[in-house]
Amino acid sequence: LKPNPTVFIIFGGTGDLAWRKLAPALYNLYLDGWMPDHFSIVGTGRTKLTDEEFREKLLEGINLFSRSGKAEKEQWETFSQNIYYQVSDLKNAATYRELGSRIKTYETAWDQKADLIYYLAVSPNFFPIIAENIAKNCPKEGLDRTRIVIEKPFGHDLDSARALNAQLQGIFDEKQIYRIDHYLGKETVQNIMAFRFANSLLEPIWNRNYIDHVQISVTEQLGVEDRGGYYDGAGALRDMIQNHLLQLLCLIAMEPPVNLDADEVRNRRVDVLRSMRRFSPDDIRFSAVRGQYGHGWIEGKEVPGYRDEPEVDPTSNTETFAALKFFVDNWRWQGVPFYLRTGKHLSQSASVISIQFKNIPHSIFPPEAAENWQQNRLVFSIQPEMSIRLQMQAKRPGLDMTLNPVDLVFDYSGTYPGKPPEAYETLLLDTMLGDQTLFMRSDQVEAAWDLIMPILHAWENKKSLSFPNYPAGSWGPENAEALIAQDGFHWFTLP
Ligand code: BG6
Repeated sequence: LKPNPTVFIIFGGTGDLAWRKLAPALYNLYLDGWMPDHFSIVGTGRTKLTDEEFREKLLEGINLFSRSGKAEKEQWETFSQNIYYQVSDLKNAATYRELGSRIKTYETAWDQKADLIYYLAVSPNFFPIIAENIAKNCPKEGLDRTRIVIEKPFGHDLDSARALNAQLQGIFDEKQIYRIDHYLGKETVQNIMAFRFANSLLEPIWNRNYIDHVQISVTEQLGVEDRGGYYDGAGALRDMIQNHLLQLLCLIAMEPPVNLDADEVRNRRVDVLRSMRRFSPDDIRFSAVRGQYGHGWIEGKEVPGYRDEPEVDPTSNTETFAALKFFVDNWRWQGVPFYLRTGKHLSQSASVISIQFKNIPHSIFPPEAAENWQQNRLVFSIQPEMSIRLQMQAKRPGLDMTLNPVDLVFDYSGTYPGKPPEAYETLLLDTMLGDQTLFMRSDQVEAAWDLIMPILHAWENKKSLSFPNYPAGSWGPENAEALIAQDGFHWFTLP
């Protein structure tokens, strides 16, 4: 399975994403033999650069971020011959006509038609103008051979997401639109489907009769870094919950698809979003917690509070932390709480899904034997540890009967040599192959916005008087613990 000859056009070629993620991913696909026999990568940007200068810049990114480490001279030289740069003005039709004639030149040299991938790694306000200009001024190779890739954020709220969908769908067919949620491309995230649907063991217990509750926690030690300008208009709900965390929830809660057809899988994922209980004003008060970090310490280093970050409003009401309790109102999940939490500048960076099973119906063990009692738990650790663990009770070796929790562990690093592909490798290859399974369909994006809109409105309309309410380096606001403790649980963290 190899992609057709491809011209890969990156709008925003000199940006952070191209440097940090796209170039290293394309280079690793090349090393692993996944790139087409003929391909061209064209970066566009306002800065004046020669092809050679652009290649140097990408090489720097590859050397810093590539899974395979520093690029080897010979391989890089062959790969980089396929990289080009075009100075561009995104508002000017001439830019697109020039791209068009480049595409023709490559096709003539290859003596073959190319698949065209237009990758929009630019600020969202450029999406419409680029899409329109591609439609008017660039070659289109038909439905199957022209694709447009859109990075997040996809809209700022439900209305703007709808408007953007309508705009894109007025120009392209849904089959040509690839909306990225890079979490779906992560190796460990893809394994959730494999684990659930390639093992018969789990299905009988994967429901409200056996599962007590689910936790999805994506905590980050990083703060907003140099992204204050974007983040202050977004916040944790928009930046993480609307997309990454809700998609993880969909993978845990979805019904088995009939097969792996892209729309079949996406139908099952969107079913989950459509089944989720809408937040009433009371739910917002009792089942949603927001936080904003204040000054604190991360791994021994003093860091400023959010309101003192560059490009952040010093009176900002933006949340850098969110914890929410959701319900999925369908037969499988009725009554099972799904707790989601995410935040910046927290004590640990870890993305973990914990599925806690119900307690045994009756204990035959004396209380002193079961002092360390813990209910069974299945833990998908997405990053940085990559593992799947099943926590069980077992007898501790010794002459008495003492129970102790132990883990049955599938650990990637111990099982498979080498580093697994980065999310962007998977997603870029899928784009070249025309497989949309791991991309967001328009209805998924809108359903996720629809779900969080009441919370967004409530939080935006009512300024939090307690911000900042957690010090950088902590586990977030105290209320987040209370949210889950009121139901008798605790947030799970890996040891
Ligand atoms: C991005 C968010 O989508 O995901 C960032 O905009 C966040 O704020 C990042 O840091 C987290 O991704 P990862 O892959 O580092 O967990």
